[in-house]
Amino acid sequence: MPKKETITSLQQAKGKRKIVMITAYDALFASLFSESADIILVGDSLNMSFNGKADTLSVTLDQMIYHTQAVCNGAPNTFVVCDMPFGSTNTKEEALANAVKVFQQTGADAVKIEGGCNRAELIKHLTDNAIAVMGHIGLLPQSVRSEGGYKVKGRDENSFEQIIEDAKAIEEAGAFAIVVEGVTPNLGAMVTQSVNIPVIGIGAGKLTDGQVLVWSDMLGFFEEFKPKFVKRYLEGAKLVKEAVKNYKQEVESGVFPAQEHTYK
Ligand code: KIV
Repeated sequence: MPKKETITSLQQAKGKRKIVMITAYDALFASLFSESADIILVGDSLNMSFNGKADTLSVTLDQMIYHTQAVCNGAPNTFVVCDMPFGSTNTKEEALANAVKVFQQTGADAVKIEGGCNRAELIKHLTDNAIAVMGHIGLLPQSVRSEGGYKVKGRDENSFEQIIEDAKAIEEAGAFAIVVEGVTPNLGAMVTQSVNIPVIGIGAGKLTDGQVLVWSDMLGFFEEFKPKFVKRYLEGAKLVKEAVKNYKQEVESGVFPAQEHTYK
């Protein structure tokens, strides 16, 4: 079992080794991923892949806490980050109270907050009060309704410069790492070079300090849609359907349970 990462070891990784991050929402998968992942993110993406909703906006803080507890139970030796859900960080007082609740009720090592310069003061309030914060800039899934869709960032000069400013402001506010999502590879590389903290990319090219993927995407369980940046390392949905079809046939034909599955 690899040694549990800390904020210090993750920051020391910058420029030396790539950071591997994956989402998980329950103890079973967290335990399976813990052998390989440096960081497990309890992403609010669970509202889509786990709860079947169209976006992340309706997940509640209590639901995030429940799933983070489960992940911490399954992967006690892995660095766990809990996503602060939409609406839980509207003011700095509310953000601190909610982040304290996450720290007190779960074993999470850090929280993640979406937003750039506009959240820097709020992030500073948390880091000043002993909450470890991972930033999240670029494409912000919690802004999907206000922005009218998921839009790749960095294709025009304004958004390119804005995102670099966002990264610097978040570093200045005391965040220990940043996720940069849905940006051109050039911008992913520029963001990575412009700060001294680790930058973990998702759909941000290969020149970031690490990568994160949503587990149900990378293991092929989410069938409806495959974003361009996702590589499927398993055809999970296909394998599960085949296995359950096989079970159905064996139950119906009486092949299962066999002698070895039956008490004497
Ligand atoms: O919610 C999530 O899974 C995330 C990742 C996409 C980084 O924020």
